[in-house]
Amino acid sequence: ALASPSNDNDFLQCLSTNIPSQLVQTPSSPSFKQLLVSSIRNARFVAPATARPPLCIVTPTNASHVQAAVRCGRRLSVRVRMRSGGHDCEGLSYRSGSPNSEGFAVIDLAKLHAVRVNPQEATAWVDSGAGIGELYYHVATAAPGLGFPAGVCPTVGVGGIFSGGGIGLMMRKHGLSADNVLDATMVDAEGNLLADKKAMGDDLFWAIRGGGGGNFGIVLSWKVRLVPVPPTVTFFRVPKTMDQGAVDAVTKWQTVAPVLPDDLSVRVVVQNRQANFQALYLGNSSAAVATMGSRFPELGVTRANCKEMSWLQYTAYIYFRDDIYNKPLDELLLNRSMTLGPFFKNKSDYVKKPLSKDTLEKMFLWPEGAATGQLVLEPHGGRMGRIAADNTPFPYRSSVLYNIQYVEFWNGEGTGGKVTPDWVGSLYDFMAPFVSKDPRGAYVNYRDLDIGANKVVDGVTSYESAKVWGESYFGPENFKRLAKIKRKVDAGDYFWSEQSVPPLPLNQ
Ligand code: FDA
Repeated sequence: ALASPSNDNDFLQCLSTNIPSQLVQTPSSPSFKQLLVSSIRNARFVAPATARPPLCIVTPTNASHVQAAVRCGRRLSVRVRMRSGGHDCEGLSYRSGSPNSEGFAVIDLAKLHAVRVNPQEATAWVDSGAGIGELYYHVATAAPGLGFPAGVCPTVGVGGIFSGGGIGLMMRKHGLSADNVLDATMVDAEGNLLADKKAMGDDLFWAIRGGGGGNFGIVLSWKVRLVPVPPTVTFFRVPKTMDQGAVDAVTKWQTVAPVLPDDLSVRVVVQNRQANFQALYLGNSSAAVATMGSRFPELGVTRANCKEMSWLQYTAYIYFRDDIYNKPLDELLLNRSMTLGPFFKNKSDYVKKPLSKDTLEKMFLWPEGAATGQLVLEPHGGRMGRIAADNTPFPYRSSVLYNIQYVEFWNGEGTGGKVTPDWVGSLYDFMAPFVSKDPRGAYVNYRDLDIGANKVVDGVTSYESAKVWGESYFGPENFKRLAKIKRKVDAGDYFWSEQSVPPLPLNQ
């Protein structure tokens, strides 16, 4: 660890000789605050009590600025944190966990957001600062008939979501976003530009495709394989209250959804004691209704539940709903300006054996208090189950039925009156016996500092402390391999955060 107080002024001086001054903002700059919060999604991390402002924010417009920032940081013992879309669930891309910790700079990649599509090759190069909505838009407009599997919220950054895997409604057909990365360019811990995977070597290229953001270097852009999408896809939605048999339906869903044809993905959102089944079918509505009729008749899906649209419209519809009929898609999907959402806290689990009806009923009825809790159940299976657990650092493959995301939202002033939410924490504790264990799994992109944070002992990040959270995200074998790669590419542990992969100790 970089223990000594940083040479802040020398660092800023070094930046100023290498990077145009308008691309470096310090807290005294009039637009600093606005820039800092520009991509903060969670009101929890705007509150002064939980945030330490960075020494500066660098907004590079080319690779040399990123290299210069890393080289200055290395030379003058100032760490950098990198931010793409700013959606990190614990805000680690722009804040440090404690107000008293060492100073750091933020490299904010928002200005590097180009998407270059090659329709003939069915590939694209996308810069890390692009949002996934921008990626979807540029792919579908430049190459109709092609799409890309990633997440649901259009402002999520490519840099973060690819780094941690990237789950979404096309993963049953095409895998994670990271499974479709063919090449990348990045700046390493020495400030070197690694122009392709050959320059990275197999290990580092493996690590950046799902091994978590902020660990191995700053990925500038990614070459991805685009996937075929049919001209018409189908959305359907079936809401069910508990009186209408929601618990029975989710009980059955657990064993049906992971084995449906790969073209059909049905996820469940549970909120206010109601289950909302939401689907993507890669085809038209009559085929969707027929498949559901034979595989899951209890849900009673009819044409009336369905909407047909293009794949691009779908990527907007799943988030903006009927707004897509009033606003142009570019306005919705390319818009990066955000209104700050509520306070929220995420947790996640993996389910390997179906939960009992009794357990599900308790989840539906979990006391709400003043807060609002939401569960998102995301089915695996399909292609996800046919990829080996060590193919990428993301280990949740054939053994998994579905992922649970728990989210608690609340509104409030300052810290929101409560820094430790209780709905999500108590439900998570209750769930322990029923979900994956030894280690209990979690999805790195739903980052959760409660499951563990790095401890620094005598200036060195303890590998044992990191195993606690690291094995949850990656499984024991993949985590050890990540730590070994870290030792090779960043032995000095320059890219550090409360949940960064530490270098594997030499004796292990
Ligand atoms: P951010 O910029 O905050 O970075 C996240 C982490 O990656 C940080 O550690 C950061 O330092 C590091 N990082 C950022 N850029 C990097 C780069 N260029 N190179 C290396 N490291 C980098 N996930 C999912 O799989 N499917 C989904 O549907 C959703 N939906 C969703 C909705 C909402 C509202 C939120 C808040 C989050 C999600 N997520 C998600 C989770 C999301 O994938 C996760 O938070 C990503 O890390 C966000 O990436 P950003 O670039 O936006 O974050």
